[in-house]
Amino acid sequence: MTVRIVLGAQFGDEAKGKIVDFLAASARYVVRSAGGPNAGHTIVLPEGPVVLHQLACGVLRHGVTGVSGPGMVIQPFKLEEELTGLEQRGLLRGEVVLSDRAHVLLPLHEVEDAWEDELRGRRRPEASLGTTRSGIGPAYADRAGRFGLRLGELGRPAVLRERLELLYATKPHLANLPPIDELAGRLTEVGTRLAPLVRTTEPILWDAIARGENVLLEGAQSALLDVDFGTYPYVTSSHPTSAGALVGSGIPPTELDGVVGVAKAYCTRVGAGPFPTEEVGERGEFLRRVGGERGATTGRPRRCGWLDLVLLRYVARLNGLTSLAITKVDVLGGVDEVPVGVGYRMPDGSTVRDGLPSDADELARAEPIYETWPGWPEFHAHLRERIRREGATALPSELRRFLAFVEDATGVPVEYVGYGAHRDETVWLGPPTARRRRPGISAWNP
Ligand code: GDP
Ligand code: IMO
Ligand code: MG
Repeated sequence: MTVRIVLGAQFGDEAKGKIVDFLAASARYVVRSAGGPNAGHTIVLPEGPVVLHQLACGVLRHGVTGVSGPGMVIQPFKLEEELTGLEQRGLLRGEVVLSDRAHVLLPLHEVEDAWEDELRGRRRPEASLGTTRSGIGPAYADRAGRFGLRLGELGRPAVLRERLELLYATKPHLANLPPIDELAGRLTEVGTRLAPLVRTTEPILWDAIARGENVLLEGAQSALLDVDFGTYPYVTSSHPTSAGALVGSGIPPTELDGVVGVAKAYCTRVGAGPFPTEEVGERGEFLRRVGGERGATTGRPRRCGWLDLVLLRYVARLNGLTSLAITKVDVLGGVDEVPVGVGYRMPDGSTVRDGLPSDADELARAEPIYETWPGWPEFHAHLRERIRREGATALPSELRRFLAFVEDATGVPVEYVGYGAHRDETVWLGPPTARRRRPGISAWNP
């Protein structure tokens, strides 16, 4: 392993944080490449649970540098609180580096995010996206519009002032913004405190790769929330795909060695948008309760349903997944039958087994076709202990058959299984089998 990406293969909250933390044990750098405070990545340490929003999970391990990378939008005041919180608990064990190219997400972006989502819902309440209200959309819009402010610019008062004046002029719709002087003062102060952590991160990562060190790119959100390839408009504003992880970290595609897609053994979604295998009844409530499905950032109850192999196959192809991490299998332990979505029946009578309709409304009308798999036993303490001691061979045979089915349906080997929230409750199933061989560059030669 040299450069690997871990990304969300469903609608977010797949336990990316836990898988990244597991792999970070043998990484030198862990890099967040997209999103900002909308992310909530939970790791349950012996000291208790930690939720990271803007820091890479690597900061919890000695000898690892956690980079908040160039593709992020960073709310500096919240970032400072996150740092202080970890320090106070004695959990900040790695080094923290912040990219000078990362954009600054301002408190006014949070106000604008709420304003925009209310605007969307004014005509039709269902049109609200249910964003995390953390300012992501407006911050990325200002970045694309060239009105943004970057972390490396916080220490340049003249630039800061000019940029804020311009930004304010673009937002006459926002009432009660703080005076520019006041905001500029607060930003200068926080910028001064964060300055020792701010670096140009690309050469640091290039040098690490050249030395053969392991670099892990930590995805936030998920491929199905990608602004282009997700269920638009019910998406976030960044590119949480494998290609996006490279763009957002400045690592060239030729350096990439693998892409791990993280998916729960079932599925959840928080916020609005199509979710074909959603269970609104008692069984959905069961998953929510047993899986503890509440947003790590907003505390909102997550919508719950079954694993959807149409979506997972799409994500596998879109991102070139080289392996899968299937998490939260313990939540289904003791369930008699596990439904899995294998296709959709569409209103015109056609059947879809492959590919995501580009129209979210069409996906919302898809009627799932299920296959039902026999459940596996409960993950009681004895079984957990055996898995810890013996590894993957101790996984129940019914679960192994289920995992083999997921592998067949997606064409991607399952490499990791998560069977509990604790840091050590992930098991490695062995190296993934080699991917399809390509002819290589020689095929281009005359
Ligand atoms: P992320 O955003 O993808 O990092 O995921 P979140 O942290 O938002 O949500 C995952 C939740 O599931 C957290 O509460 C984790 O502590 C918990 N969790 C992670 N892996 C497992 C697992 O294998 N089993 C169980 N029961 N809980 C898990
Ligand atoms: P992690 O990294 C789950 C969802 C929001 C909303 C949509 C747009 O913890 O998996 P945004 O605030 O980004 O403009 O909201 O995207 N969303 C997430 N859902 N996990 C996340 O992050 C999410 N980040 C954004 O609920 O539907
Ligand atoms: Mg989360």
